[in-house]
Amino acid sequence: MISLQGKTAIITGGGRGLGKAVALILAQEGVNIAITGRNEENLKTTVEEIKKFGVAAAYAVFNIENEAEVKAGIDKLVNQLGGVDILINNAGIGQFGTLEAMSAADWEQVIRVNLFGVYYAAMAVYPHLKGEGDIVNVASTAGLKGGANMSAYAASKAAVISLSQSMMAEWRKHNIRVITLTPSTIASDMSIQGGLTDGNPDKVLQPEDFAEWVRDMLKMNRRALVANGSILSTNP
Ligand SMILES: NC(=O)c1ccc[n+]([C@@H]2O[C@H](COP(=O)([O-])OP(=O)(O)OC[C@H]3O[C@@H](n4cnc5c(N)ncnc54)[C@H](OP(=O)(O)O)[C@@H]3O)[C@@H](O)[C@H]2O)c1
Repeated sequence: MISLQGKTAIITGGGRGLGKAVALILAQEGVNIAITGRNEENLKTTVEEIKKFGVAAAYAVFNIENEAEVKAGIDKLVNQLGGVDILINNAGIGQFGTLEAMSAADWEQVIRVNLFGVYYAAMAVYPHLKGEGDIVNVASTAGLKGGANMSAYAASKAAVISLSQSMMAEWRKHNIRVITLTPSTIASDMSIQGGLTDGNPDKVLQPEDFAEWVRDMLKMNRRALVANGSILSTNP
């Protein structure tokens, strides 16, 4: 395995949930961390926790739905931290409900955040990756197969899988590993508030499990690319 010491990662949605767990575990590996989101308080608190590992940490507040804000925020973070090597494209929303119950506006918002957000962040980071890098796109098992009450979410994640695979095909020849992840339910605000799980740590995947998995994939020799992967709770 390779060392991640001294690398710099940008993690969208890094102020809570899965993104925060990844930020903290990469900081333990000596990675300088930039996190993004809309809730400045969460971002500030997380930056203080990250700094305890002796790495540089910064944050930017922006709405991932807005292309100009994403580009400006990412450029600011890259300048502040002196470059970027890793993007964890994690920010996302879950809006669950039947097709009839969901408004068209809610449906569009899920697509804007989950699909366009991933696209905007990747396009903003790509010009800064010099010679090599890693982009981890967080989709979902919901993107592999649609289901009741998740039409918009599943469609957005299916599109992320497809976008990510195209990105991988185009950018691997520039030594950029694009990793498409399809986790199943993990205890977080999204899954607990959405009624998908009670989050029982004896049974259900926790954000730390996801973070360890991401860390280990990033630490693989650079000749090795985990193109797609799922993680499930063993016996939820
Ligand atoms: N938890 C699961 O069961 C599960 C399973 C499979 C895949 N996933 C995926 O994993 C990712 C993280 O999910 P999570 O469970 O950690 O969810 P979460 O706890 O609800 O956190 C969502 C994160 O996304 C950010 N975010 C949401 N909308 C945003 C917007 N418009 N602009 C900027 N940032 C925004 C939030 O930041 P602010 O609050 O600061 O805006 C927050 O940090 C998502 O892509 C989700 O679809 C989750």
